[in-house]
Order: sequence, then structure tokens, then C-alpha cells
Amino acid sequence: MKKFLLITSAIITLLSTVVFGRPGEEEYLANNNEHTFIQILSWDEAYEKARPLVEQMSLEQKVNITTGLGWEGGRCVGNTGSTINPDFPELCLQDSPLGIRFADGVSSGVAGVNAAASFDKEAIRRRGEYMGAEFRAKGIHVQLGPGVNMLRAPEGGRLWEGFGEDPYLAGIAAAETIRGIQSQGVMATVKHIIGNEQEINREKYSSEIDERTINEIYLWPFARAVEADVASVMCAYNQVNGQYACENDYVLNQLLKTKLGFRGFVQSDWAATHSTDLSVLNGLDMTMPGDITFHSGDSYFGANLTKAVKEGRIDEDRVTDMAMRIVASWYKVRQDEGFPETNIDSFRPENDKHINVQGNHHIDIRQLGAASTVLLKNDDNILPLSISRKRKLAVIGSDAGPAKNVLNCPDHGCNDGTLAQGWGSGTAAYPYLITPYEGIKSKVGDRMTVTKYLDHTNLKKAAKTASDADIAIVFANSNSGEEFIVVDNHRGDRNDLNLWNNGDELIKAVADANENTIVVIHSVGPVNMPWVRHPNIKAILWPGLPGQESGNSLADVLFGDVNPSAKLPYTIAKNPKHYPATISLGNTTEHVIPYEEGLYIGYRWFDKNDIEPLYPFGHGLSYTKFQYSHGRVQVVQGRANNITVYANITISNVGHYDGAEVVQLYLTYPAIAEEPPRILRGFEKVFIPRGCEETVSFKLSKEELSYYAVIDHDWVVPRGDFVLHVGSSSRDIKFSKRFTLD
Ligand code: NOJ
Repeated sequence: MKKFLLITSAIITLLSTVVFGRPGEEEYLANNNEHTFIQILSWDEAYEKARPLVEQMSLEQKVNITTGLGWEGGRCVGNTGSTINPDFPELCLQDSPLGIRFADGVSSGVAGVNAAASFDKEAIRRRGEYMGAEFRAKGIHVQLGPGVNMLRAPEGGRLWEGFGEDPYLAGIAAAETIRGIQSQGVMATVKHIIGNEQEINREKYSSEIDERTINEIYLWPFARAVEADVASVMCAYNQVNGQYACENDYVLNQLLKTKLGFRGFVQSDWAATHSTDLSVLNGLDMTMPGDITFHSGDSYFGANLTKAVKEGRIDEDRVTDMAMRIVASWYKVRQDEGFPETNIDSFRPENDKHINVQGNHHIDIRQLGAASTVLLKNDDNILPLSISRKRKLAVIGSDAGPAKNVLNCPDHGCNDGTLAQGWGSGTAAYPYLITPYEGIKSKVGDRMTVTKYLDHTNLKKAAKTASDADIAIVFANSNSGEEFIVVDNHRGDRNDLNLWNNGDELIKAVADANENTIVVIHSVGPVNMPWVRHPNIKAILWPGLPGQESGNSLADVLFGDVNPSAKLPYTIAKNPKHYPATISLGNTTEHVIPYEEGLYIGYRWFDKNDIEPLYPFGHGLSYTKFQYSHGRVQVVQGRANNITVYANITISNVGHYDGAEVVQLYLTYPAIAEEPPRILRGFEKVFIPRGCEETVSFKLSKEELSYYAVIDHDWVVPRGDFVLHVGSSSRDIKFSKRFTLD
């Protein structure tokens, strides 16, 4: 097999590292060099290789590779049929977007929403690479991730698997993740197309989304995934505008395959196929896990599909196309060149070879955990903490400590210790979980006194522990997941945005008792924060869902080994009523979810309605200070739609620490476009040593300058006055400049 060691990528990675004083850089370089990068084929090359193979296949053989073996019918959560003469292997499809589900010896790193919070393209790519390396080593052909459903209603149970509330951010995160995964010769799956933004009733409801909103918001990340050459797309359980997503001609044929030009294969979500003819004709290429319902023993594809062709209801060319899409995707990531045998077994652990594939990935996970921890507030510069024998630190809350069940709770469907990922199929078993208490203890050793109350039930004890210390760190969380597991009465989606396990009372009790209180929130998304203005709460840290290295990542930030640089990938409202949408309960016979807010998802809604958020999208503090200056905008207007806008801005680190800033570019469109007031259209994370400055450059082309004009059913660059804004959050704009396109 031809392999390319991208040593340069490792070097660039090293140079762009956003932490300071971080140990183990040499170790990381060694780790990264362990990965072997694969130069994937172009689609044309892949199809050229696939054609002669598929041409030799009989109708039954072609059907066989489009049909899963049935739930628990193979080693993986999904397994395709294989063929002999010509030979095509059984493909293994396995969850999840953050690591390998149902296996041991694997890493269980930061969730998608954390990857987004890092706003670090390079780090997101590296996350994809280490995941791809692990899937490959286990012989898994298809990773069932990334997820890109949008954080529309903040209670949505699985939105932590995705990348937040902004499609531009989600698009970049998806593309980088896919490039990373596929660089290891593993097919990535972007999911779930489309409108699967809540769990309750997901197999019934119809998401009603207008054409412009589909294109500008919900399809956008899929479009970027297709540009990144994603091998597979998973269609959703729900209906879209009255028709099931997995048999929706508009979504699969017209948008995905025709408009976006997707040449890989569409696989169904598990038992989301509802027909033979309609599904096949309307764009579905593979049914998963194969049976109509789990263990039913029959399939909409398989013999039913062969019959449909023989009876002339489906043209054999379409089945050839389905097979070509699958075989070409396999060639594209070069799985014909010595791909490892599948060595996991999701359902029969005695067949699993138990290969440890973790490598040094814990280093990346720890770094990304810290790089995705958002510092929301830091009064009196209480952080970073210095390690001092003279000061006593109290660590309080069950969320800072171990759980009874955390290492063997199936699919993480429990919430009794520190929270580091949600629950459901979007998870991977922890090899270990460093709790915040352990992380802090191992950082300070015996150089500082650390006391603890790792519980949430006895507020008096919590207050006493806090008042006996100089600094109190209090922890709380909010969890959610997939609907097949109910945790503390939450059927996947959160019932509300309150902290779990007495969180608000605990925080208040601690803050009342200690004037140097630091709050740490592990959460799947926004929460209500009724205590936020408590004068004793000096700092709020938001590690979200940091994965197995949780405590170490947190300690790195608390004690200043890492300067925080993450930004919120969603808005946190002052009042839950301020969000544009909430979970829809529907009824048992009919369930329609109108996406009434249209384009105004997340911060766009707050901007349009002039609602002040508690913490805006893109907000996150640093231990240092950045100044923005010398903003410049240049328009280069060629013929037709050939317009490029360049923007430069200088960022100076005028504070006392080295650090990284996420420079964000928002665009206000001419009135004729009828866009929300400001839309994210660029971001760069730059590391700047203290006392130094960097010039950050942006280039906006047709993709960033267009809006979706329904009248043309296409993207159009509007003429008129734009305003380009550069800032440190969606509400902290440092530089604005008007430019005109005529
Ligand atoms: C259903 C989930 O919606 C999907 O994301 C997952 O990949 C499959 N189950 C397989 O577990």
C-alpha cells in the first residue's frame, strides 16, 4: 500500500499549538508520526476502479452489498452482505462520532460540541485522525460520524454529538473531521440528513422546513461534508416536509445527489427504511441494519429488492448505481489495499480480539479537552490559580468525583458522577475517566491542601467544606442523550435546562459560604444559571463534555498550564423563553414540527429580536488580553460572480500570558438578501506569544458572500452594501467596515 507520512502536517500542528508551557510536545510529535496517512482517490479514479468489479456482479450480488445482515447479524452495529467471485468484503459499520462504541481498548475523547468550542481547525482535524486510526486498527470500514444536526432547541438530546448552533462552524468542523477520519483509510458518515433536531417521537415527526432554511442552515454542513469527499451520508428517522427522510426525493436525489453532487452512498439510520420501491427510487443506497425491524428476519431490500427489479418496478441500472456508490467509496479510501480484518465484536465479546488501539491519543484528548474549555467569567483575575501551600482549595459536588457506574454503564445511560459525555449510540466506553478531583490532586500533589465533598445531597456539608477553604470550586452538570435510554426521567431530550442533581442549590450554598467561588459546568448545551450574578462567584469554567481526560484538561486550565481559548458554540440565554425553539411534544397520531424561526437559529434570533443573551455565541475569555487594530478590507471584483473580498486585521497580545485568540468574522448582507443581522463567515484561531502581534487574513468568495434566493433555487451574491465585522464574539465586534458590490 502506498503510504504518505505527512511529517509537515505534524510540524505545522506543533507550531500552531495553542497552549503554553505545555509538557509533552516531543511526545506529541512522536505520537502524530505514528499515524500513516493515506492519499485518498478522487471520485473519478474510484469509480474507474469500481466499474469493472460491479460489472461482474449479478443482480443478487449487487443487492447483497446494499443490504445489511440484520441487527446483531455480524460483528458491528451494521454489516453488509459480501460477494464471492467477484469478491467484495462484508463491510463493518460502527458508531460513534466521538470514538468506537461497543469495544474496549479504545479512546473516548471530547464530544463534537467540544470540538466545535475549540474553534481550532487543526485540532479538529487531528481528532478525526486519531479516531480514524483507531477505527482502522479495529478493522472498521465505516465510522458512523460526524453528526451535524443543529442546536436549534437547546434541550435536543443528541445535539452534543454535533457542532453547535451555527452552520458555518458546523460545516468546517464536519469537513475537518471527515478529512481526518478518511486520511486513515476509514469511510466517514455524516448524519442525520435532515431535520433530526430532537429525540422525542423521532420516528414519527415531520420537520417542516422551508427551502431557504434547508439550504442555508440544515443542509449547509452536509454540503461542506460533500466538498470534503465524505464517503457516506446517513438519512434520518424523521420525515421532512411530510415524507420520510430515507425515501425523500427532494432531500436525497434533488439536493444531496444532484445539487451537492454527492457520489458516495446513502445509508439509512437503523430501521429508518420504510419501503422498497420508494426508498430506492428516491435515493437510498443501503439499508441498515438490514432487517425491517430489529430481528424481524425480513428486509425492504434483499429479496424484496431483487423481486422489484425482476417485476420491472425498479430499473436494474439503479441497483448498479447503488452498488457502484458503495464499491467506489471503498476504493476511494483504498480499503482494497490491505485493510485489517474486523477484530471487534459488538455483541459477542468472546470473539473480540481486544486489540488496544489507543496509542498516545490521550495526549490529543487532554489538549483538546483544555482547548475546548470555555472561560465564561473571570472577575478579579481569580484564574489561573497559583499553587500555594498557604491556600486551601475545596472541591465540591458529585460532578467532581467518580461514579458508581461510569465505566460499565451501558451507552453511558446514567448520571451519578462527573459528566464527560452524553448517552446513547454517540458514545464510546471510557478506558478510564480522570475525574476533576483526581486531575486537580495530581496537578498540585502535596504542594497545596485540597479538601473535598464529592456529593450534592448535603448542602450543609458542602457549605462547611467551602467555608473552611480559601477557594471553593463547585461542580454541576446537565446531561442528555438518545431516546432509547431514559435517565432520571429524561427521554433523550432534556425536560428543561436546569442543572441536574441539585446543581443550583449546591452552587448557591457554596457561593454563600466562600467569597472565592469558581463554578465548573459539565453540560451537553446551555443551562439556566440563576446564580450567575452571585458576587462571590468569581469565575465560571465550561468544560462541556471533555471525555476521558476530563480532570487533567481542567487542571491544566485552572492552574494556567493552558491558557483558555475556547468560545461558546451556542448562545446561553438569560431566560429559557428567549431561545428561538424548544422541544415539540406532538401527539400520538400526528406530529409536525414547524421550524418557524426559519433562518433565525441561535444568535441570529437574539440579534434579530434584540434580546441580550447571558453569554453570546462565540464568547470565551483568556488569561491574557488581545487588542485588534489595522483592520482592512479589499474587494476584488472580476467578471460575473467572480468576486473575492479580502480582510486583514492585526491582533496584539498585550496581556501577561501567551495565548490564542479566535478571531471571528461576521457579515451583514445588503437589505435585499433579507438575511439575519450578522452571520459567521470566517474564523481563525491564532496563537500569539505575549508582547507579540499577528496579522490574520480572511478570504471571502462566492460561498461566503451568497444567500439562497428561493426565486432562483440557487445561491446568489447580492449587490449592494455589506458590512464586514471582525470580533472576539458575536456580540464583541472590534472592527466593522462597509463595502459595496455593484
Ligand atoms: C441510531 C442512531 O440514530 C444512529 O446515529 C446510529 O449510528 C445508529 N442507531 C446505529 O447505532
